[in-house]
Amino acid sequence: MLHFKTIIEPFRIKSVEAVKFTHREDRVAALAEAGYNVFRLRAEDVLIDLLTDSGTGAMSAAQWGALLQGDESYAGSRSFFRFRDVVQALTGFRHVIPTHQGRAAERILFHTTLRPGMVVPNNNHFDTTRANVEVEDAEARDLVIPEGRVPSIVHPFKGNMDLAALERTLATDGDRVPLVMVTVTNNTGGGQPVSLENLRGVRALCDRYGKPFFLDACRFAENAYFVKKREAGQEGRAPREIAREMFSLADGCTMSAKKDGLANIGGFLALNDDEWAERCRNLLILTEGFPTYGGLAGYDLEAVARGLEEVLEEPYLRYRIRSTEYLHERLTAAGVPCIQPAGGHAVYVDARALLPRVPPLQYPGIALANALYVEAGIRGVEIGTVMFGRQPDGSEKPGAMDLVRLAIPRRVYTQSHVDYVAEAVIGVAGMKDRLRGYRIAKAPAVLRHFTAVFEPLSA
Ligand code: F0G
Repeated sequence: MLHFKTIIEPFRIKSVEAVKFTHREDRVAALAEAGYNVFRLRAEDVLIDLLTDSGTGAMSAAQWGALLQGDESYAGSRSFFRFRDVVQALTGFRHVIPTHQGRAAERILFHTTLRPGMVVPNNNHFDTTRANVEVEDAEARDLVIPEGRVPSIVHPFKGNMDLAALERTLATDGDRVPLVMVTVTNNTGGGQPVSLENLRGVRALCDRYGKPFFLDACRFAENAYFVKKREAGQEGRAPREIAREMFSLADGCTMSAKKDGLANIGGFLALNDDEWAERCRNLLILTEGFPTYGGLAGYDLEAVARGLEEVLEEPYLRYRIRSTEYLHERLTAAGVPCIQPAGGHAVYVDARALLPRVPPLQYPGIALANALYVEAGIRGVEIGTVMFGRQPDGSEKPGAMDLVRLAIPRRVYTQSHVDYVAEAVIGVAGMKDRLRGYRIAKAPAVLRHFTAVFEPLSA
């Protein structure tokens, strides 16, 4: 019997969309027009779009088929019950509240549970999560393990919560902590997983201090697969079983179905507490919609319900994790500094290490992301000082890291696309001495990275 080493895409392609090839001088002009911020580009002018893995995946034929089954009734839609049953079977949570995407679930949860001066511990808050905590005048406190803050350190569960630090927070500020959160996988820290053992440790501390425990579950399936591959005693279990155990350790979750829901839009808030659920539903009606659709169409609920099942199929997860690792391996072999090890959904290039002559306050992540676009038509995203450096008092300091994230959309690009990306990043890394920093010409106070306008600094 043959034993194959090649891991193939576990799908065949039924429908294609052409990508547009552009010339370097077109891209120079497009980037200047966009204020040197790749968020402001037209997607059409991008050849390979690695801006995000959120909502950018390809749906399966079964999901497209499910769209036609959508029940668009305002209240009590059949699609809601299908969606609710799938989410409950997976998470075990009593209340399932659909939302149009993850941040709506965050806003509803935090607006319901936070008062000014409160503290939310998390391994690392993602940008919208942090912003939704801070907008309530509360503190978003990042307590990832120390290894999780150093790009070059290899650790199997670099997304783990620092349990000693969490205990200190609960012991000293416990009266101000309404809930504890853990993000799986830890996007801001490099798409790194959290072990089951660590989740059990968080659960035990939450029990001891009487705190509810929520997962930010956007990439729960990728996390479950890392647990299977890396955690002692887990290799024989199905990803679904591991995912169910992850959820069973928590009291609720926020979810962006644009990631591991394999859908283009959608999300949910799920939780056990009856009183919180009632308050959240009331807020939902005010801003999102009736509790059986939460701002989504019936057909969206169908697509998410189906996606949540497909995402746990093992051939899919094997291919998914391996294709990210493959890009990571090629870059690392060529000496491009990346967060070690590979994340689940993205490769994070360490722009601060690659461009030591561009200081953090001149935004090495922007310098690298912009060069990748100009030289190769690839769009990545800065995760660094622009995204996280602005302080609540309006001052600015370097972010914990300056990274460029190359996020891989699910089931969209093939291996030759990834080979092109590797060649491009390695080529741009070779130009590192020529890359210059930027200054911010204009930016809003909150979530400035989305719309900021930059100016290149001269030599
Ligand atoms: N939590 C995490 C860990 C995320 O990565 C995101 C989104 C959200 C919450 C919010 O979900 O976009 O559906 O409102 N991350 C995307 C990204 C945008 O590019 O990483 P959303």
